[in-house]
Amino acid sequence: MGKDVIIACDFASKEQVLTFLDKFTGKKPFVKIGMELFYAEGPEIVREIKARGHKIFLDLKLHDIPNTVKKSMAVLSRLDVDMTNLHAAGTVNMMTAALEGLTREDGTRPILIAVTQLTSTDQETMENDLLINKPIDEVVMHYAANAAKAGLDGVVCSPLEAGKVHDRCGKNFVTVTPGVRFADGDVGDQKRVMTPAAAKEIGSDYIVVGRPITAAEDPVAAYTRCCEEFIG
Ligand code: C5P
Repeated sequence: MGKDVIIACDFASKEQVLTFLDKFTGKKPFVKIGMELFYAEGPEIVREIKARGHKIFLDLKLHDIPNTVKKSMAVLSRLDVDMTNLHAAGTVNMMTAALEGLTREDGTRPILIAVTQLTSTDQETMENDLLINKPIDEVVMHYAANAAKAGLDGVVCSPLEAGKVHDRCGKNFVTVTPGVRFADGDVGDQKRVMTPAAAKEIGSDYIVVGRPITAAEDPVAAYTRCCEEFIG
């Protein structure tokens, strides 16, 4: 899998995201479209950004009964996104169904990755709210293994977990890692962060970077720096 920097386009409207993307006149970055923008603007925003030549990671984190997820994935696949995701908590059956729905008639499909435990869930809330009493690291690795068993391509995880995921699920199993910050940058609300260079070192396949690029004074320079540190 090709290493790349994915910009998290966490904007609330089409106008904001297109104004941001207009700055990139050279290399077209791989972009992540999340729920906020997708729910605000609908599938048309995906078509529009795709038509401008960007690869798209559609981050909608599906989680429902297998049949519903399968049919929804077929719709996302027709939108011609390059990567999408779901919750591993939906079970191996749901992930298998998702993969079937996503696969186009010609056998091609977007990369499908799973969210294991959200980073907003810690050991205490997992035990109290979800009644899962195993150590959270073990739960994350188990969900990653379930995703691999279902035939998915990889998981979203912290760059700190990327090495362990590769050890458990194989080096071709893709790790997509948010929580990336420049050594001299603001950490913001991210708790466990890593620089692009360190994420490269540990073996992340894709880094997802939001505010260090979107809120930078010069977003193109910040993106270029990220690519230089991560891809080389
Ligand atoms: O601005 P920042 O670089 O923190 O953005 C990171 C992006 O990755 C956001 O879109 C955030 O929702 C997403 N993300 C994350 N941690 C996860 C999963 C997704 O930060 N565990």
